[in-house]
Amino acid sequence: MTQLLNVEDYRRRARRVLPRLVFDYVDGGAEDERCLRRNRDALEALPLIPECLRDTHAMDIGIELFDRRWRAPFAVAPIGLAGLVRPRADALLASAAQAARVPFILSTASNTRIEDVRTAAPDATLWMQLYVMGERAIAERIVRRARAANFEALVLTVDVPVGGLRERDLRHGFRVPMRLTPGTVFDMARHPAWLLRLARGGMPQFANLLPDDDDAPVSAQTQAALLSRTMDRTLTWESLAWLRKLWDGPLLVKGLLGAEDARRAVRHGADGIVVSNHGGRQLDAAPASIAALPAIADAVGGRIPVLMDGGIRRGSDVVKALALGARAVLVGRPPVYGLACDGERGALSVLQLLAQETERTMTLLGAAHARELGPRHVDRPTPRSL
Ligand code: FNR
Repeated sequence: MTQLLNVEDYRRRARRVLPRLVFDYVDGGAEDERCLRRNRDALEALPLIPECLRDTHAMDIGIELFDRRWRAPFAVAPIGLAGLVRPRADALLASAAQAARVPFILSTASNTRIEDVRTAAPDATLWMQLYVMGERAIAERIVRRARAANFEALVLTVDVPVGGLRERDLRHGFRVPMRLTPGTVFDMARHPAWLLRLARGGMPQFANLLPDDDDAPVSAQTQAALLSRTMDRTLTWESLAWLRKLWDGPLLVKGLLGAEDARRAVRHGADGIVVSNHGGRQLDAAPASIAALPAIADAVGGRIPVLMDGGIRRGSDVVKALALGARAVLVGRPPVYGLACDGERGALSVLQLLAQETERTMTLLGAAHARELGPRHVDRPTPRSL
């Protein structure tokens, strides 16, 4: 069996063990997948410049954010419909994050109930990602439940006013309503281990939109809205005040790519932002996240923490983002590839290998702590046009 030494090894193994429809759902991007590639190309194009003969014996890649210590400067990004990869995927990912001692962000479009994720990872730092769609009461209920389950931060995703055009999904007939092609059905049958798990676990549901015993039922309209990713298009910066009333913990805005938007987020009272293009799954013409980061970090000027995601596949990518002004990064697909290969253990292995690579890279750079990293470590100018 081939050794799994890095994230790309896990990705290749995931491609083998998952039906193509599921792999493509996770792996793919919008339209021509230029933004997806741009995220990687821009990171790869940035050389790091080491500083030699510096004392790094007390190396610590951990950080502190919102009164929590993270063992490594990354968190697990929210992934909707991860239950397609494995039943209980969200609980397994949360538990892997707990073991790695990094935060886990649960998607509104997850397949495990908020409360069950907390039970699976009682000591984890859990954050809740929010999509606002259909009736606002649905979002309000999710926020209430997240708070009751001791989720510590709320992450409002703002780059999905409408779903990106994911052409890989469309070609498989993976759409609403579902129209699977015969080829896709045949391919699923050729992955019996996956199929058996799905049969045992049942088709993934949007568990956090399902009615609770003591709650009003979710309308069919809202369920359909989530399935087809129909968002509340009346949401604006002013809506942050509405969320602020419901949520007194840290409130982050995820999906910004422009400096002016970052200033707006600060003005409207966000406690943090995530520079993100949704892993290349939304606006295909969007810039690479790493290219957008320096101007945003500049505009925010340290008033609130700036996080970033998109294309992080190596510890050196984590370090590049930190050096260019991110306090931490999110990793989306990598732990999901791990999950596909070996369940919770696979996801944890991916998080551990990213942490090891981060530590090695920082040691090679001569930086014993994230706060010692700076733009001088990156051979700029940042190729914004890549
Ligand atoms: C996502 N992403 C995402 N973001 C979000 O805010 N809510 C969500 O439900 C989802 N769902 C989702 C599903 C899948 C399959 C993927 C790959 C991504 C985006 C995610 O949180 C993150 O921004 C990107 O995945 C980061 O890029 P990398 O690390 O995957 O390159």
